[in-house]
Amino acid sequence: MTRQAWLNGVYIAAEEARISPFDRGFLFADGVYEVTAVYNSQLIDMERHLDRLERSLRELKFGTMPDRKELEDVHRKLVSANGVDEGYVYLQVTRGAYGARDFVAPDNPRLTIFMFAEKRALIDTPSARNGSRIVTLPDIRWARRDIKSVGLLAQALAKTEAKARGADDAWLVAPDGFVTEGASSNAWIVTKDGEIITRAISNMILAGVTRHALFDALGQKGIKLTERNFTADEARNAAEAFSTAATGLVTPVVEIDGVQLSDGKPGPTTRMVQKAYYTAIGADVPKTAPWVNG
Ligand code: PDD
Repeated sequence: MTRQAWLNGVYIAAEEARISPFDRGFLFADGVYEVTAVYNSQLIDMERHLDRLERSLRELKFGTMPDRKELEDVHRKLVSANGVDEGYVYLQVTRGAYGARDFVAPDNPRLTIFMFAEKRALIDTPSARNGSRIVTLPDIRWARRDIKSVGLLAQALAKTEAKARGADDAWLVAPDGFVTEGASSNAWIVTKDGEIITRAISNMILAGVTRHALFDALGQKGIKLTERNFTADEARNAAEAFSTAATGLVTPVVEIDGVQLSDGKPGPTTRMVQKAYYTAIGADVPKTAPWVNG
């Protein structure tokens, strides 16, 4: 089946979508994006993703905003047109093309808006079942990581380096020794006392929608989550660790820089967190993720 995408108001076969090489997204990475998870053909937390998209655009002084109702509608249509029961919708907005290379951004940009949907397992994946191996790498990104910019070269290089070192993913470490976040996820540890810790929101990290949803889901159960910095060393010595993102939901981490955490299997707190999150998005957990119960 041909994959249906959407470009600047038009549904189109994905491989036929074309944009100008003068697009500011291409020349300057002058654009932002969102990835919204789909489960049971339902968009998970789409409103929060669109809130964050609008915030990113405002922070970059785009001036022009895409039509939110239209974006919501296209999300739903792409899910249905592509038969995505589980996967994600990708949305990218750039400041458009002007036939010239000018560092100075236009006042009233003609936005380039591109969206596509993809089928992909989110819950029953090898990493969600068995955990992932992480390496820590220097965080060489710019200072506005709260903006979901398409300038992802540092993240792409980190993930490529992680793979070259035989790991599944990278966590990034600021010059002060504290972990910022994963290359495309938020980073969490569980101490030997069972405290669940993640870094507080600031310009140093992306305010993850999955992270936010976990605060809601676990808060409702009366489970406390602590927001504070932790070092790579503390992570390597933690009892458990996990990453959160729309593309991996809650992914256990079982090894950091070659150091196995506890017995090298996803721990009980991580399983509890996975179960709480899967339940919150409407998954029938014993059926979809029997391994969360150990
Ligand atoms: N990335 N931090 C970074 C640097 C990210 O790129 C992401 C998500 C997150 C988690 O955010 P959320 O829970 O809203 O997905 C944190 C997406 C999935 C990506 O780049 O593919």
